Amino acid sequence: MGVRRPLALFVLTAIAAPVALAAPPASAPASAPASAASTAAPASSADAAKAAEAEFTKLEAVATKPGDATAGQAKAAACGACHGMDGNSTDPQYPKLAGQSEQYIVTQLMRFKSGTRVNPIMAGMAAPLSPQDMHDLGAYFSTQKLLPGVADEKLASDGEKLYRDGDASQGIPACMACHGPTGRGNPGWRVPQVGGQHADYVQKQLQAWHDGTSWGSDAHAQIMPSIAQRLTAADITAVSSYVEGLHAAPAPQPATRSGATD
Ligand code: HEC
Ligand code: HEC
Repeated sequence: MGVRRPLALFVLTAIAAPVALAAPPASAPASAPASAASTAAPASSADAAKAAEAEFTKLEAVATKPGDATAGQAKAAACGACHGMDGNSTDPQYPKLAGQSEQYIVTQLMRFKSGTRVNPIMAGMAAPLSPQDMHDLGAYFSTQKLLPGVADEKLASDGEKLYRDGDASQGIPACMACHGPTGRGNPGWRVPQVGGQHADYVQKQLQAWHDGTSWGSDAHAQIMPSIAQRLTAADITAVSSYVEGLHAAPAPQPATRSGATD
């Protein structure tokens, strides 16, 4: 992966995002059953990563109908204990799913199931889900109303600067270029909503990417690791706090500062 890609490439990536960030594949004929996981024991971690990628590609190729939120609600009973019944988790180690796009949720569930994104809890939760289940669950959570969070006043200003402007001197693009001014994300590009997300969860992901984790080897999965590698611990803390407080329709704020959302 390009660890030291020049800023120009980041800017290009952000600007050319409709091309660079591949939209989900059009539903293809279901040639391969999604559950046909590879049973051969991988000889090395490189082989294991390759097997996971192959499994992910297979899952993505399965034909599905658009998600059905009502069917998804019934299937979501198993998720509520951690993510909240309406997708607004209260424990900050579990990401909020409310208002997150169907496509992003589906992609992540396929990553957990295939193993390109490694998390033991979610691997277990995703294992029994078919691609259609994933779409139904995604449709359900995407229609739930996100309950926004609150930023730490002391950190918000540094975080806001990074989010809105990036830091050209460090080769860090503006988060806003992809995640949007209100943190809504971009469903068509599978860029997640980050506005309102728990700061603890955001911080954990940014730190993990900084430390070398990735969620796959495809170009899409390389975007955040290559950005996070350039963030300092202080950057990560500040921007994580800022996004937790970011939302589309701000509650009336104290008159101390303004412009936290748009
Ligand atoms: C026992 C707790 C637990 C349960 C139950 C659970 N999850 Fe999760 N989920 C997690 C944790 C922890 C993470 C964060 C994983 C990480 O750090 O990468 C997560 C992450 C996710 C993500 C990624 C979100 C993002 O913003 O990237 C999705 C999507 C998700 N879960 C969907 C589900 C669905 C759908 C169900 C029910 C079928 C479910 N989860 C059940 C604990 C749980
Ligand atoms: C070029 C586009 C782009 C830019 C710029 C960008 N992101 Fe992302 N971000 C993405 C994509 C795409 C994903 C989904 C990653 C995946 O699926 O592998 C993502 C995922 C995330 C997530 C995970 C959210 C979740 O629910 O798990 C966080 C947190 C995040 N980005 C924060 C940031 C921050 C902070 C910045 C600025 C320092 C930033 N991003 C800049 C495209 C971008």
